[in-house]
Amino acid sequence: MSDLARLIERPRIPLAHLPTPITPVSWDLGAVRLYLKRDDLTGSGLSGNKVRKLEYLIADARARGCDTLVTCGGIQSNHTRATAVAATLCGLRSVVVLSGEEPSELDGNLLLSRLVGADVRIVPAMPSAERHARMLQIAAELEQEGMRPYVMPSGGSSEVGALGYCRAAFELAEQLEADPRGIGCIVHACGSGGTFAGCHIGRELTGLEPRHVAVIIEGTVREWRASLADYINRTANYWDIDLEADPDAIALLDGAGRGYAVNTDEEMDFMVRFARCTGIFLDPVYTGKALYALDRDVRRGVFDPGGNVLFIHTGGMYGLFPRRRGLMEALKRAGG
Ligand SMILES: Cc1ncc(COP(=O)(O)O)c(C=O)c1O
Repeated sequence: MSDLARLIERPRIPLAHLPTPITPVSWDLGAVRLYLKRDDLTGSGLSGNKVRKLEYLIADARARGCDTLVTCGGIQSNHTRATAVAATLCGLRSVVVLSGEEPSELDGNLLLSRLVGADVRIVPAMPSAERHARMLQIAAELEQEGMRPYVMPSGGSSEVGALGYCRAAFELAEQLEADPRGIGCIVHACGSGGTFAGCHIGRELTGLEPRHVAVIIEGTVREWRASLADYINRTANYWDIDLEADPDAIALLDGAGRGYAVNTDEEMDFMVRFARCTGIFLDPVYTGKALYALDRDVRRGVFDPGGNVLFIHTGGMYGLFPRRRGLMEALKRAGG
């Protein structure tokens, strides 16, 4: 069995609607065409990239006899919402640890998590390492209460979670083999790194030709190169794959702007223009920032995509609703 088959054929609970389609969009990117791989269409409650990871994570949780999925994120985390929905679909409990200020109204991802019965624990805003430690503490308490928790790091980005995007790279290779569409590079937003690490390993194992580029939406390119290479190498080691990532060879664009979940007017205006031009919604935290940065860098000639661009639309649409005020201002600037 090849390394690829060995990885992607690991136990998996099918939850996502796959394969997701690749569609051209009527967006002017200068000399090149923009295509979207619609991972925002993996499901409705399960929409986005996280469900691909959860397919493997939940299979692992079941194999270990766990009955409660425990994870963490920001108040409007897409991953914790997808976890809550997937847990309920699979007859498991979910406990989600969210950091930030408790909102006065339920909205977006938080509302959906509550609707499907997640046990939501809101903790103050804190660095992600501290939030992770808090989650481990909560998991230990759950265990003492008789539950069997399965703990997932933020974004579901563990060695097991990365398999979701190994499989996606394989899916993509099949789609591009059937119709190459002149794709020169595959681009997506990077948050906790699981999408990038999985895709990177899957691309190496399938021999996918287009370049693979991530757009960071917080932090610095230098930090991310090191941490993504480390994550890829840990994952390859865990699954006994002979592969080593070189941090300097990791291609990243800088879409961090004002930082995590903070948007410039230009980013908000871009999301409005994109929706009006294409009928497709981007989200303010990941896809909107990432596609804005990609569009900017291609236009300025700072980034040469080497052919048409395939942007993986990783979802996040429920994050639009809690940002309605900023979007209304953008709509005003766009003339109503
Ligand atoms: C909508 C959306 N896009 C992209 C990402 C980034 O994916 P990853 O965490 O695997 O880097 C996330 C989550 O972090 C997300 O919710």
